[in-house]
Amino acid sequence: MEHILKACDAIKNATNNFAPEVGIILGTGLGGFVDSIDVKYRLEYKDIPNMPVSTVEGHKGCLIFGEVAGRKVVAMQGRFHYYEGYTMKQVTFPVRVMALLGIKTLFVSNAAGGINTSFCVGDLMIITDHINLLPNPLIGPNMAELGPRFPDMHDCYSSAIRAKATAIAEREGIKLQYGVYVGTTGPTFETQAEYRYFKAIGGDAVGMSTVPEVIVARHMGVPCFGVSVVTNCGLSDEKGDHEDVQLQGKKAGERMARLFTELIREI
Ligand code: HPA
Repeated sequence: MEHILKACDAIKNATNNFAPEVGIILGTGLGGFVDSIDVKYRLEYKDIPNMPVSTVEGHKGCLIFGEVAGRKVVAMQGRFHYYEGYTMKQVTFPVRVMALLGIKTLFVSNAAGGINTSFCVGDLMIITDHINLLPNPLIGPNMAELGPRFPDMHDCYSSAIRAKATAIAEREGIKLQYGVYVGTTGPTFETQAEYRYFKAIGGDAVGMSTVPEVIVARHMGVPCFGVSVVTNCGLSDEKGDHEDVQLQGKKAGERMARLFTELIREI
């Protein structure tokens, strides 16, 4: 708790008490959304006390404070993954910080492998629910001042926000898919048998992020909205490739940015 408060204090000092309403986590290849932000402050992770520092290619390590559609936002350009060797407490540390800075909603994005065979590469999937196959970030003593010991996970991805996203996408002509995100540790992409297994247990897309951050946000009562960019289709014959994941993320990023911007305007 002390670590979280120290980071919050440093951020408040560096941003003249900028109070963001919306937190945004940008996934692999999706950092381009930053161009949609009227940036007021940019803080590198290394300059924030207790913040881990990102190591993956394509992930810059900055917290960006600014405005989107006239609303105050804080965006993470670069996130932390369990496969990098961080603890789950480190992976979710920035969410604790953003929540204590006062965000009222968390937007998360990621690159994911399509499991659902009706999905195409480049599709945007609104996350309707998740299956957690990572260690739970809430394991350990509960910080009761932050949330309950046994948090409810119904409506984990706010149905009210999803309904707004659907209306916006119809208006803007953005094709959407909907589905369940399976969160794995990585860093291996899945075997064909694992893809079939994830399909059998009800998954539509699989990736190596998002679930820990959403669990922690829900622990603190913050409503969440999540979008996956389908960068490859696991049940096809193609191989997983990090460069391709980044490229497909970039291409779909423009549509995702439009969806996020309009949603932020309306929530
Ligand atoms: N599996 C896991 N994570 C991913 C994938 C995948 O196929 N594609 C992009 N991120």
